[in-house]
Amino acid sequence: MQENELINELKQHVNTPLEEARQGEALALEQVVEAQNGRHFYIESYGCQMNFNDSEIVASILQKEGYGLSKDYESADIILLNTCSIRDKAEQRVRNRLKVINQVKKKRPDALVGILGCMAERLKTKLLEEEQVVDIVIGPDAYRDLPNLITEAGGGQKAVNVLLSREETYGDINPIRLDSNGVTAFVSIMRGCDNMCSFCVVPFTRGRERSRNTFSILAEVQNLIDRNYKEVTLLGQNVDSYKWTNPETNEVVNFAQLLEMVAQLSPELRVRFSTSHPKDITNEVLHTIAKYENICNYIHLPVQAGGSRILKKMNRTYDREWYLERVQAIRKIIPDCAISSDIIAGFCSETEADHQETLSLMEIVQYDMSYMFIYSERPKTLAARRYEDDVPEATKKRRLQEIIALQTQHALMRNKAHVGKVYKVLVEKESKRSSDDLCGRNDQNKMVIFPRGNHQPGDYVNVLIESCTSASLKGKVVD
Ligand code: SAH
Ligand code: SF4
Ligand code: F3S
Repeated sequence: MQENELINELKQHVNTPLEEARQGEALALEQVVEAQNGRHFYIESYGCQMNFNDSEIVASILQKEGYGLSKDYESADIILLNTCSIRDKAEQRVRNRLKVINQVKKKRPDALVGILGCMAERLKTKLLEEEQVVDIVIGPDAYRDLPNLITEAGGGQKAVNVLLSREETYGDINPIRLDSNGVTAFVSIMRGCDNMCSFCVVPFTRGRERSRNTFSILAEVQNLIDRNYKEVTLLGQNVDSYKWTNPETNEVVNFAQLLEMVAQLSPELRVRFSTSHPKDITNEVLHTIAKYENICNYIHLPVQAGGSRILKKMNRTYDREWYLERVQAIRKIIPDCAISSDIIAGFCSETEADHQETLSLMEIVQYDMSYMFIYSERPKTLAARRYEDDVPEATKKRRLQEIIALQTQHALMRNKAHVGKVYKVLVEKESKRSSDDLCGRNDQNKMVIFPRGNHQPGDYVNVLIESCTSASLKGKVVD
């Protein structure tokens, strides 16, 4: 494959975390739920995995109230968009989508349109002024109130609830798995974020950090196991700061202990987690990953920038040396662990020398994969209030391209190291490129493509890797 082709292929995978890669994707129910009350809702999700999981919680809340799920926004009674504010582009995408939905509303004025999630929380009632088509604005901690807001809006009033909570974790709600392959599922273990990275809008849209009851997490995972799911990804903005105090015994459960409890539920269940914060990931967590075969050897450890000056300005609370020490600890304790990152190009005041530090850190770590972004100023954040967004757009773009080009090389090099080896792969689904092939991930989270044979989603197969690109591995099943 030519280098250009490689870069193009990688580009489909970089800079496209869920909020971009799956934007606008309508969610399909694992089983179609008919409406008990004759009314159907349609829900579309943007943003991170947590937001997608929230849509599954919303679906569960509405289903309990008798609403059925529609896969078609043009005929649904209630059209919901679960939105993301992380970068300006993410918000623009939703605004463009609202233009399309406006056409539906013109034809069917009775249809209700609701904005959920981070844009709802960030913009509050302003959203009603700016987007006439919207009837309901509901923030991430208010979803239990959605049936009430639907009733209110049905009466012709605009309905808003953007209250944030210090306690809400939706722990008792069993999410309805949307867009499910029946094999892998997300399980939120905490909500909110207390970190206040200076570029980030999440603490404003999601509120304070809180951890979900350990027992409710274990019950949800057990329920998935009982329904033949084979992999769970434990979700939080900063999973390493998971901390739940049992009110009856006063015992505290930390993330390493939670991971261990989840892993012990079944050796057949694969356990993944995201996101790890470099300041909080402990050796205890690393030893727990190493101890359990079914906890995957893959850590998403976003660095954001390679130089200590920028990291300080970003309020990441670690420096370059600390980050590299954590990477060394991972390599020592879990030798075959894959590591991925998030990287921002062109943060306020970033000089060419700062940028070079990012590239040089990448050279040292050699990430298996990265999500790479151009800095986008977000209102109210510390960076927006204190620092000037002073790196010219063209410079930001050029730096991002350099970061992407380097990451492409590293991904290819890392993937080449898998060629000739045999990996246990959990079959997820048919390959997008060919119905003759299946695909699934290995322990290191690499997508592996192989001829279908007699295998099914949910099977574990051993695959000998024969070739690779920077984005995936290809091979054949061996015994
Ligand atoms: N909690 C995770 C990040 C969640 S947001 C963590 O701390 O790693 C996902 C990624 O979006 C971030 O890691 C960051 O790289 C990127 N991001 C967040 N705010 C951004 C902004 N204002 N401009 C560009 N990228 C941003
Ligand atoms: Fe945002 Fe930082 Fe919290 Fe991640 S840890 S969600 S980047 S504030
Ligand atoms: Fe976006 Fe909100 Fe997630 S801003 S990335 S949907 S927490």
